[in-house]
Amino acid sequence: MAYDCLIDPVTEAYLRALPSALPRDLVPLDQYVRAQGFPVSSREAIEFLILLCRMLQPQRILEIGTCVGYSALVMSRLCPNATIDTIERNPAMISDAKANLDRYHGEHITLFEGDAAVILPNLSGPYDLIYLDAAKGQYPAYLPDCVRLLREGGVFLVDDVLFRGQVPAGKPDCHRNQTIVNRLDAFIRRLKDHPQLTTTVLPISDGMTVSVKRSPNHGEKA
Ligand SMILES: C[S@@+](CC[C@H](N)C(=O)[O-])C[C@H]1O[C@@H](n2cnc3c(N)ncnc32)[C@H](O)[C@@H]1O
Repeated sequence: MAYDCLIDPVTEAYLRALPSALPRDLVPLDQYVRAQGFPVSSREAIEFLILLCRMLQPQRILEIGTCVGYSALVMSRLCPNATIDTIERNPAMISDAKANLDRYHGEHITLFEGDAAVILPNLSGPYDLIYLDAAKGQYPAYLPDCVRLLREGGVFLVDDVLFRGQVPAGKPDCHRNQTIVNRLDAFIRRLKDHPQLTTTVLPISDGMTVSVKRSPNHGEKA
């Protein structure tokens, strides 16, 4: 059965009814983006991102996939001293993101306009936290730059890696998703095998991976 979330609907409804950790001043933005159907991070992904921000207090954050600036603004509230770089290629999203960053005081957020494949190679690290939430089929192509840009001990968070359950099922819901399913499967396996990363796959949201970058002298698989 295809769920919006990987857990069963009763558990999902229960979890979603619990009090949220979302910063209060962003509640109107949260309601707006969800009512309008913008492809923002799920509630579960945002709750987890909030937890990570509280735990890590990152000083430099990179996000790939700004959409309208929602998750970038959430991170900026949780990490008020951080600088946040975020990448978006869709002109309509860029325009809305700029308006939201103005309206909700995203002064520490820098919006990079263009394709992540072009922008990423030109960025300099190190970042303490990288949140990848863009075109799923491109995830494997972004991995080398994400690892390069992440500091040792930094955290790499990736959303939607299980693609509505199609990756674990091993088959897409339609023919044109076959490539995405194959690429996400290869991406997850690469994260798990990567000599510089320790990774776990969490069945929250639409599947999230959390990786930490190891130092070179701890490159061996523990
Ligand atoms: C799931 S949305 C991001 C949601 C956002 N993280 C949030 O929760 O507010 C994915 C975004 O990535 C953008 N995107 C997809 N591929 C991209 C690429 N190659 N370069 C830059 N942006 C890309 C899409 O236009 C879309 O707005």
